[in-house]
Amino acid sequence: MLEHGGQLRHAAKSYHISLEKWVDLSTGINPNGFPIPDIPSKCWQRLPEDNDGLLTAAQDYYQAESLLAVAGSQAAIQNLPLLYSHSKVGVLHPAYAEHGACWQQAGHQIIKLTPETVDAYLTQLQVLIIVNPNNPTGHLFSQQQLLDWHKVLQTNNGLLIIDEAFMDTTITNSLSHLSPQRGLIILRSIGKFFGLAGIRCGFVIAEAKLLNSLEKKLGVWSLSHPSRYVATHALMDTHWQQNTLKNLPKQAQRLQKLLYSNNLLVSGSHALFHWVKTPTAKTVHQQLAQQGIWTRLFTKPTSLRFGLPKDESEWQRLSQALFSLQES
Ligand SMILES: Cc1ncc(COP(=O)(O)O)c(C=O)c1O
Repeated sequence: MLEHGGQLRHAAKSYHISLEKWVDLSTGINPNGFPIPDIPSKCWQRLPEDNDGLLTAAQDYYQAESLLAVAGSQAAIQNLPLLYSHSKVGVLHPAYAEHGACWQQAGHQIIKLTPETVDAYLTQLQVLIIVNPNNPTGHLFSQQQLLDWHKVLQTNNGLLIIDEAFMDTTITNSLSHLSPQRGLIILRSIGKFFGLAGIRCGFVIAEAKLLNSLEKKLGVWSLSHPSRYVATHALMDTHWQQNTLKNLPKQAQRLQKLLYSNNLLVSGSHALFHWVKTPTAKTVHQQLAQQGIWTRLFTKPTSLRFGLPKDESEWQRLSQALFSLQES
């Protein structure tokens, strides 16, 4: 199993700090997520139905007609490799490591790429997977760049998968609205911008034929009725979305300033996190953890990801903990 952010129970046990005392900055999940509406009892009692309004809400939000709701984009990440015969697959590194791991586990050959090396390998690949914006580097690929790569891949019937889990704050870079196209799969998540990782909801945007094959693999009722209900509300609430779009960049700027003022130089950014590449990442991670601040540590390359604090008291906790690093 790969390591991920979160896993706060594990941190609590290792550092002997009780669960409720932690400031969890280890994920890129919006800490002030969409407020859960009252869930009607029918959602708990009745099986979910496809025509409950979720797809229409998602079609509007993503500006895409051909999509499939899945139990988190992770469900698609795990199952897509099972739909293709043995392929040479280019994946970004560093990036969300589940892509490479799942394709490798399914017997495909993995080639690790950076944004700079994609061009050199492109004609050898049957599948290229791009995380846009990338996690944890924050690298944002332009639409044109991706369309150019898609075109080259298409000359060999290749496939471009774009993981847009973190795209909601930069939608002018999204290809969702240009879908469906042959050999193009886009993944979206309700977990990050909407801060609803726990409901396990995401979407695959692609040609109907591919969606049918994936749906068959996932089986019936793969998404729970309460999840569908909450996700539908989140996707339709344009007022909440607009406020959040205004607010997140301010929070991100505040975090960047705080990190800089404590000599932590940001190497990559997103509205929901900053990435700090430093040889002292492990020490900083441990020293912050001793004070109940949980960050995401990466070993290759040695780096840390900081998500956004939830409220003023968390900002103060982080600020004091960072300041104390300067003194130690
Ligand atoms: C880039 C990226 N894609 C996809 C996922 C999976 O998210 P979910 O299954 O909650 O949609 C994650 C989770 O951390 C991620 O970081």
